Amino acid sequence: GVASRVEALLADMTLAEKAGQLTQFFYFDLPPAEEIEETLNADFARQPAMVEAELSQGRVGSLLFVTDPAEVNRLQRMAVAGNRHGIPVLFGFDVIHGLRTIFPVPIAMAASWDLRTVEQGQAVAAREARAVGIHWAFAPMVDIARDPRWGRIVEGAGEDPYLGSAVAAAQVRGFQGASLGEQDRIIAGPKHFAGYGAALGGRDYDEVDLSDAQLWNVYLPPFEAAVAAGAGNIMTAYMPLNGIPATANRWLLEDVLRRQWGFEGFVVSDAQAVHNLRTHGFAADQVDAAARAVAAGLDLEMAIADPAYTHLPEAVEQGLVDEAALDAAVRRVLTAKVRMGLLDDPYVDEARAREVLADPAHRDVARAAARRAAVLLRNEGDLLPLDRPASLAVVGPLADSPRDTLGPWVFDYDSSETVTVLQGIRERAGQHTEVSYAPGIRPAQRTFPSMFDMWGDNAPVDPAGFDDAAELDRAVTLAREADVAVVVLGEWQNMIGEAASRSSLELPGDQLALLQAVVATGTPVVLLVMNGRPLDLRWAAEHVPAVLDIWYPGTQGGAAVADLLFGDAAPGGKLPFTWPRTVGQVPMVYSHTRSHEPANQGRRYWDEASTPLFPFGHGLSYGRFEYSDLSLDRDTLRRGETVTVTVTVTNTGPRPGEEVVQVYLSQRSGTAARPVRELKGFERVGLAVGESRTLRFPLGPDELRYWNAAARDWVVDAATFDVHVGGDSTASTSTSFAVSG
Ligand code: IFM
Repeated sequence: GVASRVEALLADMTLAEKAGQLTQFFYFDLPPAEEIEETLNADFARQPAMVEAELSQGRVGSLLFVTDPAEVNRLQRMAVAGNRHGIPVLFGFDVIHGLRTIFPVPIAMAASWDLRTVEQGQAVAAREARAVGIHWAFAPMVDIARDPRWGRIVEGAGEDPYLGSAVAAAQVRGFQGASLGEQDRIIAGPKHFAGYGAALGGRDYDEVDLSDAQLWNVYLPPFEAAVAAGAGNIMTAYMPLNGIPATANRWLLEDVLRRQWGFEGFVVSDAQAVHNLRTHGFAADQVDAAARAVAAGLDLEMAIADPAYTHLPEAVEQGLVDEAALDAAVRRVLTAKVRMGLLDDPYVDEARAREVLADPAHRDVARAAARRAAVLLRNEGDLLPLDRPASLAVVGPLADSPRDTLGPWVFDYDSSETVTVLQGIRERAGQHTEVSYAPGIRPAQRTFPSMFDMWGDNAPVDPAGFDDAAELDRAVTLAREADVAVVVLGEWQNMIGEAASRSSLELPGDQLALLQAVVATGTPVVLLVMNGRPLDLRWAAEHVPAVLDIWYPGTQGGAAVADLLFGDAAPGGKLPFTWPRTVGQVPMVYSHTRSHEPANQGRRYWDEASTPLFPFGHGLSYGRFEYSDLSLDRDTLRRGETVTVTVTVTNTGPRPGEEVVQVYLSQRSGTAARPVRELKGFERVGLAVGESRTLRFPLGPDELRYWNAAARDWVVDAATFDVHVGGDSTASTSTSFAVSG
């Protein structure tokens, strides 16, 4: 069995060999050194030769960032020959929203509120990744994000722990299938454990202080859900959580993850995070860092260079860490290798890889996902779907930028396969609608460079001889002459993601001025927003009749957008975060706790409302929905019992539509002050004109309980609970029940 193979290997390994199994290196396939920014040059240029030397001496357990199957095989041969036991390396990679076929960014997939779509997307990503030789994804990112200044909000499922938990579990199922080692599947690695999304000021990597109640009720649930779904790996966060670095946090790794949740997989650090234990002023030196990480329950160290784990043999010899702790870590890593079939067949079939990557079925899944992810924020006078306009002007540089259409965190894409919004519209418009295009402003207009610019065509370039005044004029003229203008605005993809926090939520560059100039022509405007965080759309929300959030929609993005614009499909996504009016309001969540009567509290900001621009859960469709017959199967229950909510939703609009029925719970009193409401159930339904559907949602101990700071435990209070059901977090249809003492 698996265990006996692992034990046989372990029993025959030296301390140095064990340390090698616990070391993971980046292996960069980067452009020529001279194209990389000066300061990074030396390190990155040296990196491949250094890693190859380590591999051939058996000092590497895992590699990341290799995606070419021929390279996977070459490096694997080196690894197998490099250690006495012929143990292969595990290949990991950031398979975030697709490998070759790029799906909408994770926040967009969450906005579909459709768990089947989420699961299928990661299943396709897993199939492509496994085909090229990748065994393991550093995904899903299940960090709750409540501050949109934080760039990594794009990688998660937004602000809500209930939605976040459901999406986390669906992603794990998509990556892994029913159990580790299935064909076409890879290991899922939920990250970043834990609290990373609560970075102070939204600044990436900044410190995090969270109360126990916040941790248990908000930040930990998606991790627990991912573990319950069988996740084979967990990645620790970079920063200290309440003062203790997550990477050497025994409470997180041993008490919570392994003991309370029964996690049996392996834990990896984030990049250089063991090394950073010194940067935090926590570890005294590399030996101390390595010893304390292993003692805390960290298995693999992710390193770029100079792994602290090289010092593990010394640490054991000096008695700083027990060899038993080292063995436990090695055992977990070897178990993953055996379960993934690596010891039997470590190589990959390069011909099959090409076939899998070219599978057209993957593009169809991506197109359907992009349709389901889009959120219709506004649609005054039912401007959408378009009613066969004779002419259409497409405006904005993002409309025809393949790289931006894909979003951040993609490396192995093929830009030429990407359908931009302009291409998608042109294709769908056919001969009936004449389509013109002008970027209006410079394609590369953005506010700062990104650390990812060194990869592929990540850095945007302005075409030679771009004449700003003439281009703006041309865009305005085209818009004036057209029946409808479609303006595509947002953030350049490298303004969001890791190390891409912003202190402003405004549309970067001259985009607002461009929008205002186009709207001033009087031509009806459809605004398409390309983004991964809420942006300041106050002006648009007042002056632009139709606003569709298309996110970074991926390889098939433009085709999906055209499907929606022309009414071949109806939008039905919902916001997975509260959309603030301005950066000054953040953080802002729907599930806040009320401390003062709203009627008496004034506006709270003298210069801005206290309400968001769009509430959590908001999203329109081409149908209109009415809720009726809300009922419960009982109105009192005892702790441990379940009440079932029944509600009917009807499409009373003139067109078919998609609705996400949402159930919110609020507790009127209790042994702690509770949020005004919390999401506790949802289901997405497609309804034909006049069609009704009756849905049922159970509310039991899992939905009613919360972590109580005074009791230091999970409790269900004896109290009256209100249930609100509707199409967003302001839903007003309600009923109530009581939990008796
Ligand atoms: O997986 C990522 C992580 O999310 C951030 N730091 C680098 C890792 C590997 O690329």
